[in-house]
Amino acid sequence: MIDYAILSATQAQQQVDELTGVLQACVADGASVGFVDADDDEAMTRFWQQRIGSLSDGDSELFVARQHGRIVATVILSCSAMPNGRHRAEISKLLVHPQARRQGIARELMQRAEQRARVQGKTLLVLDTRSGDVASDLYRSLGWQVAGSIPFYAESTAGVLDATTYMYTVLA
Ligand SMILES: CC(C)(COP(=O)(O)OP(=O)(O)OC[C@H]1O[C@@H](n2cnc3c(N)ncnc32)[C@H](O)[C@@H]1OP(=O)(O)O)[C@@H](O)C(=O)NCCC(=O)NCCS
Repeated sequence: MIDYAILSATQAQQQVDELTGVLQACVADGASVGFVDADDDEAMTRFWQQRIGSLSDGDSELFVARQHGRIVATVILSCSAMPNGRHRAEISKLLVHPQARRQGIARELMQRAEQRARVQGKTLLVLDTRSGDVASDLYRSLGWQVAGSIPFYAESTAGVLDATTYMYTVLA
């Protein structure tokens, strides 16, 4: 049984260890999600603490999936802070714990984040993802388009500089 929720800043703070656990497991599995050392749990906890700060500001929303009562997946929807970008939001940290993959959790989280963005009146969503990762197949299947890619963008957990692909979707 999988359940989905949007966490408040207080709830996210209470569950920061579970959030860090998902991030850490994804990095240990080789994901390109900002971190190169899966043992650096302090840096990952710090990352979540900072993101929780922006939840309280109302600039972003954190969607999670829980399985057997524990957080197994996340995605963040962040609104542009600039007055000329009020129609726009960014998707980040789509993370599914390696043990919870291929059950449609990422697809469901993305659909929920997109629906929420629509309700908030957003008409454009953007994201970037390591070029060639399976995540881009998911985004394409949801109607996202490739804007372009940048070589040597991010260091991988294996120490290689990987390209990133920028994608967008115009919400109907
Ligand atoms: C990418 C990721 C989020 C997918 O999560 P998931 O819950 O397993 O994905 P879903 O089960 O919802 O699958 C959705 C689609 O993604 C694609 N996909 C996901 N995993 C795949 C795999 N191992 N091989 C091929 N396609 C895959 C498929 O198109 C799939 O659709 P389908 O099941 O109809 O074939 C997960 O693998 C992950 O957390 N990876 C590491 C973090 C990361 O790279 N996140 C993206 C950052 S931009």
